Order: sequence, then C-alpha cells, then structure tokens
Amino acid sequence: MILSNFNICLSAQCDVTQWKSDSPVPRAELLRHIPGMHGLYCLLTDKIDAGVLDAAGPSLKVLSTMSVGYDHISLDEVKKRNIPLGYTPDVLTDATAELTVALLLSVSRRLMEAADQVRNGGWGTWSPLWMCGVGLSNSTVGIVGLGRIGMAVAQRLKPFGVKKFLYTNRNPRSDAGVLPAEYVSLDVLLNQSDFVIVCCALTPETHGLFNMDTFSKMKSSAIFINTSRGPLVNQDDLLDALESGTIRAAGLDVTTPEPIPTDHPLLELENCVVLPHIGSATESTRIDMAVLAARNLLAGLKGEKLPSEVQL
Ligand code: NDP
Ligand code: DGY
Repeated sequence: MILSNFNICLSAQCDVTQWKSDSPVPRAELLRHIPGMHGLYCLLTDKIDAGVLDAAGPSLKVLSTMSVGYDHISLDEVKKRNIPLGYTPDVLTDATAELTVALLLSVSRRLMEAADQVRNGGWGTWSPLWMCGVGLSNSTVGIVGLGRIGMAVAQRLKPFGVKKFLYTNRNPRSDAGVLPAEYVSLDVLLNQSDFVIVCCALTPETHGLFNMDTFSKMKSSAIFINTSRGPLVNQDDLLDALESGTIRAAGLDVTTPEPIPTDHPLLELENCVVLPHIGSATESTRIDMAVLAARNLLAGLKGEKLPSEVQL
C-alpha cells in the first residue's frame, strides 16, 4: 500500500509503504512501488490513470483519495477494473464554504490591497472614496454548482442581506427552496449576478467553462470567485477580462498550474486575489479528511462497503 504523505496510523493494521515528503510522489516512484499493492491512499496531486492501475495489477482492491474532488483519477479506468474509490465529502464542506466567503469578502472589500496600503505608507488620511469596494447587501449571487459546498456558501452569505440567489447545476436541487435559490441557465446567471461563485466539480463538461465568452456575458461590475478547480477557468482570458474591465475583480483559491508561477501577471493585478488552494485548510478538517480516507481504505481492504464511496 502506498500512503501518500499523511501521517496517520494505518501501520497497526497493515503493511504501509509511505512517500514521506510534502512534495508529490514522483510518478516513477509510484510505478516502482505499486505492483502487488492491495490499496492506494492518494492525494489530489497524484495522477491515477491506466498506467498506475496497470502497474498495480489485479491485487489492487481499493483506491482512497484524501479529497472530495476526484478529477485527478481516471474514473473510466477505475470502473473498468471494478475497484471501489473512496473520497472525503461533507467533512470539508464547512471549512471550504467559510474560505469561499472569506475570499469573496477580501475581493469585494479590497482587503489585501488595503492592508498593503497600510504597510507601504499609502494610508494618508480618511477620505470619502478611498478604498471603497462593493457590498453583498441587496446583491444577486450566482452559484455555479449548488452542491454541498455551494449550498453551504449560500447559507453563509444569506445573512449578509443578499437579495437573490441564482444557480446552475446539471439538475435542479429539490431543497434549493430553503434559501431560496432559483435554477437558471448559465447565461442568465452570468448576466444577472453581481457575484459569480464557482463551486462545481471539474469534469470534461466544465473544463474551460470560464473563458472570454462567459466573462463577457457577466456584468462589468461582477466579482468572480473560484474555489473549485483551476482548469475550469481559462486564465489568459481571465487576465484579459480583469485588465480590460470586462469584469470588476476576481478571487481564486485554485489555479493552473498549482503553484501558480510567482511572476504570473494575475499576481500583479490589484483586482485579483489568489490563494494557494487552502479551501479545506483548517487543522480539524484536514484530520477529519485523513481519517475518513483511512477508513475508506481499510474498509476496501477488508472487502467491506466504503464509508464514502464515489458512485461510478
Ligand atoms: P458536490 O458534488 O456536492 O457539488 C458539485 C456540484 O457541481 C453539484 O451541484 C453538481 O450539480 C455541479 N455540477 C457538476 N457538473 C456540472 C456542470 N456541468 N454544470 C453545472 N454544474 C455542475 O461537490 P462538493 O460541493 O463537495 O465539492 C465541489 C468541488 O469543490 C469539488 O469537486 C472540488 O473540486 C472543489 N473543492 C475545492 C476545495 C479547495 O480547497 N479549494 C475544497 C473542497 C472541494 P449536479 O448535482 O446537478 O450534478
Ligand atoms: C478537495 O478535497 O477536493 C480539495 O481540493 C482539497 O481539500
């Protein structure tokens, strides 16, 4: 079994081969160690495809990723081999929703820019229009992907006085009425929202969904927030949209690549806040994720139903 750099106590129950570094396991190392293993515990930085699964061979009984997103795993290849895949939904919903709200507020109220002004001596006197941003009160918020996290974001934003929630999914949610949130087409959402928040999974359908075409359908005053996955966004188009004033500002917790190079032009823009994929990064959440991923792995090794299994 390969245990990808998270120190949990699996070794009492099985033999563990662990990659003991914070950097992702090099593919050659993974391919060298995986033959004959019964389980694989991986992170979102590990690409699990036909090559890895073939190298593992027929002994592989379970795959477990310490993440709710599973776009790093070739689902068709896993399904073909009939291997159960464990993931970590729910335990990170609150932390990720909280970070999404924090990122939105830091963009809309220009917190990073303002704090820089304090440090750099740009804070002169109080003046009426200096460092003004926009508020949530009476706004329309559009959520692309009203799933577990999208719903938790909306619930947190509601008390700020949001006037209307719009959302798109593949299918409407039966419980969206509690917000309430209205199911609309993507075009309507883009056209009407003051804040566009992306909380949907990365799939072949959502890859590159945010590009010049979609940015140009947004209000020029719109704020764009992405805490799902970097490849949903065409970053060159986002840069253009931010520089040209097609949209007002953006906040990203996820980029392409990760880490984004320190000389990337997005990092020079005052109207863009970029965070290093910290959506679920609270201490207790990361422990809960690690434990759930370990429980998924152990259940699979024993041939039991996984506590949280991706429906393939
Ligand atoms: P859910 O599966 O609960 O939600 C995903 C949502 O995306 C669903 O509402 C789904 O709608 C929607 N969706 C899927 N495909 C499309 C599509 N083609 N068009 C519109 N909507 C679509 O997942 P979670 O809320 O738990 O997590 C969402 C994502 O957030 C994860 O996949 C992960 O990538 C990311 N994430 C990022 C974190 C970070 O650290 N920044 C932390 C945790 C998660 P439907 O139900 O109709 O299919
Ligand atoms: C996930 O779980 O998919 C996040 O990106 C990290 O928590």
